[in-house]
Order: sequence, then C-alpha cells, then structure tokens
Amino acid sequence: MKATRDSARARLLGFEVVSNDQVAEGARCMVFKSEVAALLAPGEFVEISVPGDGSQVLRVPLSFSRADAKAGTVRIEYAVVGDGTRRLSLMRPGDTSTLVGPCGHGWRLPGGEGRSLLVAGGIGLPPVLAAAEMLLAARHPFDAVVGAQRCSKLVGVDVDLLRAAGSTDPECRVVVCTDDGSLGRAGFTTDAMADLLAERTYEAVYTCGPTIMMAGVARLAEGAGVSCQASLERMMGCGFGACSCCNVAMRDGTSRSCCMDGPVFDAGEVAW
Ligand SMILES: Cc1cc2nc3c(=O)[nH]c(=O)nc-3n(C[C@H](O)[C@H](O)[C@H](O)COP(=O)(O)OP(=O)(O)OC[C@H]3O[C@@H](n4cnc5c(N)ncnc54)[C@H](O)[C@@H]3O)c2cc1C
Ligand code: FES
Repeated sequence: MKATRDSARARLLGFEVVSNDQVAEGARCMVFKSEVAALLAPGEFVEISVPGDGSQVLRVPLSFSRADAKAGTVRIEYAVVGDGTRRLSLMRPGDTSTLVGPCGHGWRLPGGEGRSLLVAGGIGLPPVLAAAEMLLAARHPFDAVVGAQRCSKLVGVDVDLLRAAGSTDPECRVVVCTDDGSLGRAGFTTDAMADLLAERTYEAVYTCGPTIMMAGVARLAEGAGVSCQASLERMMGCGFGACSCCNVAMRDGTSRSCCMDGPVFDAGEVAW
C-alpha cells in the first residue's frame, strides 16, 4: 500500500552546531542541537539549509545515526561530494542555520522475534546505525556487515558504536569488509552477507549504501526468502512531493517519491 507522510510532522526548525569533525577520508560527523532531536524516528531524515551562498537554495537531505531527545542533539555523518556538503564541512561549533524535519518514512521493526541482518556500505552507515539502535531498544538481536572501499574510508567510530549496540548479545556478529582488503575481510558486503545467510536464519534485512550494493543485498534477501528494507538516496528538490525529481521506479510499473514515501522502501518492491 502506498504510504502517505504525516506532513504535519515536518517543520522548519533551527539548529546549532556542537561539533563537526573529520571521521574518515572525505567524511565528517556533525553533532548539532535542535528541537528535531525529540521528533526523529530511526530511518527518517532532515533537510539542512547550509549557509554561505544565496544562489544555492536547495537543502541537503541527510540521514542521522543518533538522535538524543534528552540532550537535544542529533548526529549526522556526511561525505563531502559537492558545494552543499563542502559548505556544511565549514560550519563551526556555535554556527546556526535551519533544517526541515523529520522527513520521510523510516525503518519498521521486523514482524517476528528472529535475528536481523544489517548491511551498510560506505556513507550508508548512519541510518543503519539508527536501525541497530531501534532493534536494540526493542530487544531484537542483529548481526551487521559494514563495508568500505578501503580502511581510510571506513567510519570506524560508527563501527565501534555498532559493536557496542550488539555487545549485550554474545551471539552478535559484526563483519567489516573492505574492497581492497586493507581492513577486515577482503571483498564486498554481499560476499559476507551470502556467507552469513548460509550459516544463520534471519528474520529481516536492513540496508543502506550504494545502489548497486543494495540491489545485490535485495537479490540475496529475496533468494533466501527474507524481507528486506532499503534506505534509498535520490536528488531532492522540494522535499515534499511536489517536483517529482526524487521518483523511485517500482517493480509494478508505478513510481513513488523518495522524500515522502521513502527513503525506506520494501526492497522487493523496488525496480533495481
Ligand atoms: C534521504 C537521504 C538521506 C541521505 N543521507 C545521507 C547521509 O547520511 N550521508 C551522506 O553523506 N549523504 C547522504 N545523502 C546524500 C546527500 O544528500 C548528497 O550527497 C548531498 O545532497 C550532495 O549535495 P552537494 O551540494 O554537496 O553536492 P552536489 O553538488 O549537489 O552533487 C554532488 C554529487 O552528489 C550527487 N548527489 C547530489 N544530491 C544527491 C542526493 N540527494 N542523493 C544522492 N546523490 C546526490 C550528485 O549527483 C553529484 O554527483 C542522503 C540523501 C538522501 C536523499
Ligand atoms: S524532492 Fe520534490 S518530490 Fe521529492
């Protein structure tokens, strides 16, 4: 069934930077204070207005890895890829701007009590970390596979948080892979996932990363008969379903908007 966003939830709010540090090659972690911390659910995202250039009107859509309602802080990680994220990287503690959030539909808990498998590639790790915290809070066991091109591109601090989230479960496995073998297992996340699927039974799969990786994860999950949720990324214009620039093609021939119906979709419904 097509999801509809409770548009009353997304609002324009201010934020103040607490920290904004490099955490891996080409990637930074920002913690900011904002009222949105008490509103965000795992897998949802915010749209950030980056100060600096008045000609750049589009907000930058970003997932979060942790929202702490008590402290009023949100943690995001982002790859510096273009002008918006470059200007974001220049924000310093105490700098302020605005965001729109919470946006979109996030992760859903698995239907049963079985073990889930999280698969994250590159800068897809933040929303997967949020999924791990959601599962932990609901006492659902999980394993995780985290991949990066090379050791220097892996956000190690997130892998530590993932391991900490799983540490209450002695059976929890966190597998790190790099394409070049510079850390952990050499090869793709899908290779490690295939091995885990052969060994263990999973209730659900959660994934975020490069599209080609998520397509492979979706294929493996479908082959194993396991439900799979994927957090997709699209270029976004309006962020509220008006411009159609974030459309996602579905297997049934329809299209859905990433900003309103996603970013989390049932992977089996997406035309990869
Ligand atoms: C729901 C959602 C959540 C996201 N979460 C994260 C996150 O947690 N961390 C993170 O690093 N990135 C995330 N992204 C991607 C991020 O929004 C883009 O990298 C960012 O908007 C690029 O802006 P820019 O001005 O720096 O680059 P631009 O100059 O606009 O573009 C630079 C390059 O990035 C590509 N790009 C631009 N916007 C997007 C986009 N929305 N999705 C994919 N590619 C894009 C362009 O095609 C181009 O190749 C997310 C995107 C979406 C839609
Ligand atoms: S960004 Fe405009 S419809 Fe999604």
